[in-house]
Formats: sequence, structure tokens, C-alpha cells
Amino acid sequence: MSLQAPRGTNDIYGSYSQKWGYVISVIQNRLKRYDYHQIITPTFELTDVFKRGIGETTDIVGKEMYTFEDRGGRSLTLRPEGTASVARAYVERGMDQLLNKKFYYIAPMFRYEKPQKGRYREHYQFGVESFGNESPLMDAEVIDLLMGTYRDLGLSSLEVKLNSVGCRECRPGYESRFEKFIHKIRSSLCEECKNRSEKNPLRILDCKNPNCKKVLQDTPQINKYLCEECGDHFSVLQTILTKLNIPFQVDSKLVRGLDYYTKTVFEITSGGLGSQNAVGGGGRYDNLLESFGAKKVPAVGFGCGLERLLMVLESENVNLPIDEGIDVFVGGCLDSSLSIGMKKLQSIRELGFSGNMDFRVRNLKKHLQQASKLNARCALIFAEDEYQEEKVIVKNMAEHQQEIISWDNVEEFLTEWLKK
Ligand code: HAM
Repeated sequence: MSLQAPRGTNDIYGSYSQKWGYVISVIQNRLKRYDYHQIITPTFELTDVFKRGIGETTDIVGKEMYTFEDRGGRSLTLRPEGTASVARAYVERGMDQLLNKKFYYIAPMFRYEKPQKGRYREHYQFGVESFGNESPLMDAEVIDLLMGTYRDLGLSSLEVKLNSVGCRECRPGYESRFEKFIHKIRSSLCEECKNRSEKNPLRILDCKNPNCKKVLQDTPQINKYLCEECGDHFSVLQTILTKLNIPFQVDSKLVRGLDYYTKTVFEITSGGLGSQNAVGGGGRYDNLLESFGAKKVPAVGFGCGLERLLMVLESENVNLPIDEGIDVFVGGCLDSSLSIGMKKLQSIRELGFSGNMDFRVRNLKKHLQQASKLNARCALIFAEDEYQEEKVIVKNMAEHQQEIISWDNVEEFLTEWLKK
């Protein structure tokens, strides 16, 4: 049997990995402008972090976690999402003392889901978590950050779906109203939703089953049951998003599949993704830290799937400015010229240019073919005829110009040439 990658995982390589790197550099550039600092948490946590954080009756905790016992008998889980881990770290390390409480991560997440296009068992998320600020302006900042990142990458047609799921004060009132409604239509729901109606009825609103969606059309709307504080928060957020020119649509069925949310929830979807159409999502979670044993710390954040982001860029035919070439290709046509070639390659790289070399002795034609395949701007070939005079052929690959220069002049010559 030949070895294979586990189902639902990807290898990132070749031009895809260059696009990946470019996307991350664009993300980091925007994060810097918003003053978010990187946080790196462990890839695995004690299972309780996710059970308590995400909620025991969610699909993630109930069905999708990679949980195992370590040799010391502890139950550990590979991180299925970033928020619970960052919240755990915030409480444990006393990060309330930090001046800057705005964090970001770019990290792999693990969920035992049924793999399909855009849905993997290991996926990467770019996410932010901002702590200590209860203002709807902070919700607007994270949404603005996410939408700005999409724009930086060349995606300008994405729209935010927005809702408010209320708080501990107003949610129970909605829930009892919703449960009465569900009781009436229960027999028309899918088996899974019937199950959800016992354990965590709100999750029914997430169901993708077309029939469930249909019978839920007239469901009571959660954002109509908000208390005064949540109602004000939601309305200020909408006013600010409008001021910031961020297009959004209120979707009263949006509740998201994690239990920690309070007030704002949002999701960004794209038609180009098929059924797994969420390219990012997030919201506010003002009670999560308290449930981890800290004092109440308001917080808001989002997660954005990198694989899906690259898929949207592909489906929208966005050309990423990936420089797949190199500045200089170095080749030697004699055994004895390889070492001088390597020496010159070292100084070219020290000067800040990119270079590559074929460490085999080959003839001039073969080296030039290789330089062209590697998309080199110029080739530096230590050929036989020039070797005795300590000279080298420099070829400008685009303009097909060739010169013969002395070894000592290589650095100066290339610096001039490559600056153009
Ligand atoms: P989430 O909606 O579960 O939220 O995931 C965030 C994003 O990760 C999704 O919108 C999607 O782009 C991507 N994603 C999720 N699951 C998969 C998968 N199996 N394969 C590929 N991509 C996937 C969270 O995880 C929250 N922690 C977000 C958050 C941060 N809320 C507040 N702060």
C-alpha cells in the first residue's frame, strides 16, 4: 500500500504555496495597520477548554473534535478553532495587564468533518480576537479589518451578513418563544434537528437541509427580542458600518455554530464557493472569559478560512502579483568553474538579489534553457572559453543581450543591471 495524506488534509506546495505566502503577507500588512499583535497558542489544549468554551451540544464539540488521551491519561484535543484557546491564554496569563489586547493568529484547525470542496479536516484560519472593549465600534473595527483584507486581495464584491443573538438577559425570552414554534413544526424537521430540538434548539437555525430551511421560514426572529442594551448595540453597529461604507445585510436566522456568541454575529459568504460558502465569520462573546473563571471581559473577533479565501480568489479570477522568477541564474560549464560560480551566487544573494544555481557541469545552451525555465532575469554562465581570462557571460534573458565581463565586476555590473 502506498502512503497517503490523511483524508481531508492538504499539502501546500508549488505556485499554490506562493499564493498562500502572498495572501499571508497582505493579511499581516493590514493587521499591522490596525495594531493587532500575533498570539501563538498550543496546537492542542485540555479537552475541557473547548467543551466549556464552544459548548458541549455544538456539532464541533459533539462530533468533530480530534480528542485523545496522552500517556499521562489527560484528555487532549487538537484545536478545532482559535477563540477558546486565545481566551484560555488570556485568562491564564493575566493579559488584562497588557496595553494592547488585540490579537491575531494564522494557524491550523482540526475538525472531523465530512471532507468536500472547501471543507477539510485540517484547515488554516486567519483570525483576530479583541478583548476588553464592549463598544459596537470595536465590532465595526474587526469587520472593517476583515473586509479591508478582502479588498486588499482584490475581492470587493463580498457582503457581510449580520445579526444579533442578544445576551443572557434577552436570549431566554427568545428561546422559549422559539421552542414553542419548533414544537409545532417538529415533525417536519430532519432527524438531526429533532435531536437538536432536545439539546440545543437554536442550532436548528444553522441546518442546511432544504426542507428544514423551508419550514423555518416563518420562525420568530431573534433580533426582534433584544433587550434595550443589545438593541442599541445592534443599531449603533449598523449605523457605523454604513458610515464606513461596509455593505451588510441583516440575516435574522444567522446564529452561527458556536455557543459563546452574545450580541453581534456576522458571516461573509461567497457564491463562488459552492455549499461551503462561508469565507469568514465571527462575533462578540462577552461571557466566554467569565465562564473560564475570569471576571467579565467583553470580546469580539472572527476567523477566516485560508483555503476558502484562496478558492474565492481563484473563482473570481483574481490575478495575484506573484513573482515566480528569480533575479540571477548561475551556471558553470567546467568542474573548476562551479566554485567561482557559487562564490558569486553568495555575493549576489548578500546584495539582496534572488539567485539559483544548477550545481552540475552543463553546456551553455542547457544552462540558458534552465535559466529561461526558472524565469531568471539574467544568467551568469561561467563558460569554458572565458574561464582562463577570469571572465563570465552575463545574459539579459528578456532582451537577449549578452556581455562578457570580468569576475571582479560581477557584483557592480549586476547591481546596475538589476536596478533597471
Ligand atoms: P467558524 O465559522 O467555525 O468560526 O470558522 C471560521 C472560518 O473558518 C469559516 O468561515 C471558514 O472560512 C473556515 N472553516 C471552518 N471550518 C472549515 C473547514 N472544515 N474547512 C475549511 N475551512 C473551514 C470560528 O472558528 C470562530 N472561532 C471565529 C471567531 C473568532 N469568532 C470570534 N472570534
